[in-house]
Amino acid sequence: MCGIIGYTGTNDGAFDVLMTGLAGLEYRGYDSAGIAIADPTLSVHKREGEVAALESAVPADGLGGQTGIGHTRWSTHGPPSDANAHPHTDCSGSIAVVHNGIIENYQSLRERLEADGHTFESDTDTEVIPHLIEAAIDTGATREEAFRQAISQLEGSYAVATVFEDDETIYAARNESPLVLGIGDEGHYLASDVPAFIEYTDRVVYLEDEQFARINPSGIVVTDATGAVVDTAVETIDWDPEDAGKSGYDHYMFKEINEQPAAIRKCLRERVVELDQRISIEELADLECQGPVQFVACGTSYHAALYGARLFQEAGIQAQCFLASEYDVETIPVTGETLVVAVTQSGETADTMSALRSANRIGANTLAVTNVVGSSAARESDHVLYIRAGPEIGVAATKTFASQQVALAMFACTLSGDASAEFIRQLRALPDQLQQVLDESNARAVADAYVDAEAYFFIGRGYNHPVALEGALKLKEISYKHAEGFAAGELKHGPLALVSEKTPVFALVTGSDISKTLGNIKEVEARNAPVVAITDAPSQVEQYVDHVLEVPSAGPQLTPILANVQLQLVSYWIANRLGRSIDKPRNLAKSVTVE
Ligand code: M6R
Repeated sequence: MCGIIGYTGTNDGAFDVLMTGLAGLEYRGYDSAGIAIADPTLSVHKREGEVAALESAVPADGLGGQTGIGHTRWSTHGPPSDANAHPHTDCSGSIAVVHNGIIENYQSLRERLEADGHTFESDTDTEVIPHLIEAAIDTGATREEAFRQAISQLEGSYAVATVFEDDETIYAARNESPLVLGIGDEGHYLASDVPAFIEYTDRVVYLEDEQFARINPSGIVVTDATGAVVDTAVETIDWDPEDAGKSGYDHYMFKEINEQPAAIRKCLRERVVELDQRISIEELADLECQGPVQFVACGTSYHAALYGARLFQEAGIQAQCFLASEYDVETIPVTGETLVVAVTQSGETADTMSALRSANRIGANTLAVTNVVGSSAARESDHVLYIRAGPEIGVAATKTFASQQVALAMFACTLSGDASAEFIRQLRALPDQLQQVLDESNARAVADAYVDAEAYFFIGRGYNHPVALEGALKLKEISYKHAEGFAAGELKHGPLALVSEKTPVFALVTGSDISKTLGNIKEVEARNAPVVAITDAPSQVEQYVDHVLEVPSAGPQLTPILANVQLQLVSYWIANRLGRSIDKPRNLAKSVTVE
């Protein structure tokens, strides 16, 4: 996964647009970055490190030029270095290419090109592309023909953008990696994701797999694999640049944690109709589901899917949940009756896409639960349920987890046809209760008390089990500390051996029957572990624990959503105290587009 930006316009502003775009794409990868300006001569500048490091690789007063491409990288082939940073060029240095994805047959292409006399300067799979274009031009092909010929030889996933020396045209192509075009008044854009150019235009065209684009200041032409011009739909993005900025917060993650009440309001809007006690999701009106439901997802989205599957089971719908990377239609029974639900914030996660595609191939009914309009998951599923969380830039998923949970809760109700008046009231009250948690949380003090711990454990049962897993994932992602989540009852079957006075235990104690979890708390206390309870029943719990993080009661299904916010805050403040790179944790990226 990586981020791509391209711009071609009518003034000398390419450099500024590219740098702004790269800053907006850094969540996709941030181990090296580079740009190429095409006019009047091709100049390439790249550096290992974050986008800020790239500033030092260019003249202090920037660069002129009306056309250029940029890239921020998350390494797959070859370690982060100046040489492996994109753009990559051909032997003559007159063709520059940026790429997101993986070229699976690059080794054989490279061997052939090297045998023909091409010289390579990096370890990347990407570098074969400029050399393939160069080789085609040497045989007399035009620039566009050469680009198409090069792309036709690639196997794997790619979003590619290419510029040529002294040429105002950008040539682009996509297959299984996202690419969106922006239509502006003073130029045109392309990027892996809309935040890269939302400051300049909100009119976009999503490129489909196996499509090509030719972009210059006077227009955009999209063609299919045969070269035929494709009619494209121009869509308007409904969020503004401020939504994608930090709005005064120190970190995107903290901003996004605080945006949860608004995100949930958006998710519920016009879907929960209190007047006639109904939940109605317009985009799922034609969804029929007779058979079992199978959820596929990764990471935080998997935890949301676990939560969703439990809701479905409780509503009497047969439901299972799979890690997308373990979903294998050869061994798991999937038929045309099965509804396969891909839960994915980005809609681009390679493992989830692979599971979704295999379900599609078998003829299952498919649904994407995603945040990103026009994402691969949205386009390749039979149905889409948008979670409407707004852009999430911090690598650690926060508001999208809450929105996924709420969207799945509504979905379970529509599918089972059973939404009680009480549940509807609880759903509608949730945003205000979330705000209350944010306003009154003492998570920062708890974080201060345990910042030096050796390891952290999270326990919960029922709907709180996925929240315990998510609490641990969040903490390890951004603090780099060892953290594990367990079903509360499982602790005594092994993990208890790790529990000591150096390992705080965060216990989720909500719902109607808390007695068993209280029993588990006593087990860890007997091993001298400090216990922090996240609970809506403080009076029943506080005598057994060291700290309480209180949440309002939102009923057994929804209170865990509130409890999770307390855990997000604990993780945030521990990572903050440790001075970690909260929005861009080491080794991680927002959108994982490799399997
Ligand atoms: O975009 P997706 O929801 O498909 O992403 C899945 C995971 O990669 C993602 O949730 C990851 O675990 C996050 N970094 C968690 O904070």
